[in-house]
Amino acid sequence: MQTYRTHTCGELTKKDKGEKVILSGWVNSRRDHGGLIFVDLRDREGLTQITFDPKVSEKSWKTAENLRNEFVIRIEGKVILRPDDMINSKLKTGEIEVEVENIEILSESKTPPFEVEEIEGVDKAKDVKEDLRMEYRYLDIRRKKMRDNLEIRHKIIKFIRDYLDQKDFWEVETPSLTKSTPEGARDFIVPSRLHQGSFYSLPQSPQQYKQLLMVGGVEKYFQIARCFRDEDQRGNRQLEFTQLDLEMSFVHQDEILNLMEKMMIELVGELSDKEIMFKPFPRLNYDDVMKKYGVDKPDLRYGLEIEDISEIVKGCGFGVFTNAVEEGGVVRAICAKGAAKFSRAEIDKLTESAKEFGAKGLAYIIIKENELQSPIVKFLGDDLSQKIVEKMKGEPGDIIFFGADSEKIVRNVLGQVRIELAKKLNLADENKLAFAFVVNWPLFEEEFENGHFAPAHHMFTMPHKEDLKLLESSPEKTRSYQHDLVLNGSEVAGGSIRIHDRKIQEKIFDLIGFSEEKKKSFEHILKAFEYGPPPHGGIAMGLDRFVMILRGEKDIREVIAFPKSGDGKDLTMGAPSEVEKEQLDELGIKIKKV
Ligand code: AMO
Ligand code: AMP
Repeated sequence: MQTYRTHTCGELTKKDKGEKVILSGWVNSRRDHGGLIFVDLRDREGLTQITFDPKVSEKSWKTAENLRNEFVIRIEGKVILRPDDMINSKLKTGEIEVEVENIEILSESKTPPFEVEEIEGVDKAKDVKEDLRMEYRYLDIRRKKMRDNLEIRHKIIKFIRDYLDQKDFWEVETPSLTKSTPEGARDFIVPSRLHQGSFYSLPQSPQQYKQLLMVGGVEKYFQIARCFRDEDQRGNRQLEFTQLDLEMSFVHQDEILNLMEKMMIELVGELSDKEIMFKPFPRLNYDDVMKKYGVDKPDLRYGLEIEDISEIVKGCGFGVFTNAVEEGGVVRAICAKGAAKFSRAEIDKLTESAKEFGAKGLAYIIIKENELQSPIVKFLGDDLSQKIVEKMKGEPGDIIFFGADSEKIVRNVLGQVRIELAKKLNLADENKLAFAFVVNWPLFEEEFENGHFAPAHHMFTMPHKEDLKLLESSPEKTRSYQHDLVLNGSEVAGGSIRIHDRKIQEKIFDLIGFSEEKKKSFEHILKAFEYGPPPHGGIAMGLDRFVMILRGEKDIREVIAFPKSGDGKDLTMGAPSEVEKEQLDELGIKIKKV
């Protein structure tokens, strides 16, 4: 049998001059220059120019006349040097071409519904409608950008596997058909044929299994784990996604963070050109983060920190500010360097979006060379205005924006204003990676859910040991051993030290309002805690999200081979779909039309 290839389309250079080679691949493009036909032949590894000259092989040249883009061909030929003026320095194979002596068409292609053709530095399909790209995902994946994304994803997973293996972790698989594993989203359920009327749940994460593995003495576990969450999809969320999930026994929080930090630094060093801004990764207190950045996953590539000025303005006489402070709220400000160039309309737009986040207004002071322009300086007076400018380190050309309201609203509003300002002022450098850990979280969220506490992370997170008493008196004040890893304004990983004590776990179940019946459905883990559970903790990283940020993609779908569309469909396969009546009968399921 004849071999399909002696080389890939990405490797021949002038060193191979004179060599007889065989290449296989797709016709990326064809140019007919009268006598000569040039074809860029493409495979996974790159492009090679091949030439058809009737003087070399009349038969091949004739065949080449019928080639169309995306035909798959196999050619035999000789490597020759390109004339100097034809050298393409952007291409690894740009110094040579292959003079074809023999061609075989392996398969033909219809004209693709969008252009797959690769041209250096141009993504021709970037404006194609996504539904079309998804329907023909196999063509979409032929594009260089998609190939590069899949390749880097493979390399990242390989790196993680090798790294953790070196550190004595075992990769253990856990079931996909399981029982509800609450992580705050809705479960996907799967009907059981053998036990009609009963259902499996697809795991929202392997959380309980990995804890049971710790009770089982595995000590260091990891898994590249598929997670399923029936929740609204956004740019960085999918119904099914992949986590690097890990768990360790006999560790404190610091040791988990150190491991993640070292692994990330080495990984980025090996697989990315981007620069990590802060090493070691800052470890920030949740409260400080919320005050300074207004969100729990701050983008630290830029400053734009929020400052509290409640003390300075509390008795100032400007109703908006004084009322906020008197009612137990706060007044905070943010100084946007160079924002004085914003038009009135731009400031109004910022105000509108602040209002969407609950603000009643967005007061501001524009600092000009010789004056302050502002709707509120007349209320504050010159002295106080100057004092605020000094406190905010404002300079001519800057604008100071203000939020005055309850702590919560001001956080939300200025947090959002900060993000929008950074966008408008182009402050986030795409080539930088700002990692940070956020620690010292409250155990519960501020808001009650149906009159009960809702865990800030999940219900297996250990309360801070100094705060255990607070579980009885004021649970809302309890801190926990939760840790999040944030990167460029996204939460890329989350985890915690876990509860390994039945009583504490039951107490948490009570606080979050579990009925006795619901508690029983967690009996497996409560029981396990009665058989020598080791202290343990871990973390899980959203792999898709991480790859997306590393690649500078705006949408998580760009780094997943076969993602779900915005409304949860697999457009390549056409799922979800109806099933045969017989299948439903076997499962004892009747579809109720609503
Ligand atoms: P958590 O729910 O915080 O923790 O998830 C961990 C990380 O997974 C990513 N992620 C997602 N990525 C894409 N689409 C989604 N729908 C989605 N949801 C979450 C995020 C997140 O930081 N079992 C715990 C981990 C632990 O405690 O060890 C858990 O799943 O990047
Ligand atoms: P007013 O006195 O309502 O006209 O508001 C004067 C200025 O303060 C306007 O620029 C408003 O946008 C702004 N403002 C009003 N309420 C708030 C608030 N709660 N926080 C920040 N700015 C506000």
